[in-house]
Amino acid sequence: MQTTKVRIKVADYDSLPERAGQAVTINGQTIVLFRISTGDVKAVENRSPHRKGGTLADALVSGNFIYCPVYDLKISLEDGKVQAPDTGEVKTYQVEVFGNEVHITI
Ligand code: FES
Repeated sequence: MQTTKVRIKVADYDSLPERAGQAVTINGQTIVLFRISTGDVKAVENRSPHRKGGTLADALVSGNFIYCPVYDLKISLEDGKVQAPDTGEVKTYQVEVFGNEVHITI
């Protein structure tokens, strides 16, 4: 089945904390926005790849990676891949910033 992607404004850029997560809910999906130290904004689903579950909104940001505070998984904000020696993946979303508006495509 083909699903149509839509671009939605999800936050004001200046409301995003630096190097911390901010969860937003869009169409029933919770997504976490991370404003990283370069000023870029990354978006991942708010679901931990760890089999015991959990969320990523409280993950610690370091460069282009987040660290889950519970199991210390290191996850790339570029492609959502969990870094070795752990495995797994989270969904990432395309983010665009227009002036002060942060949009994601879902
Ligand atoms: S709770 Fe899942 S990686 Fe942390």
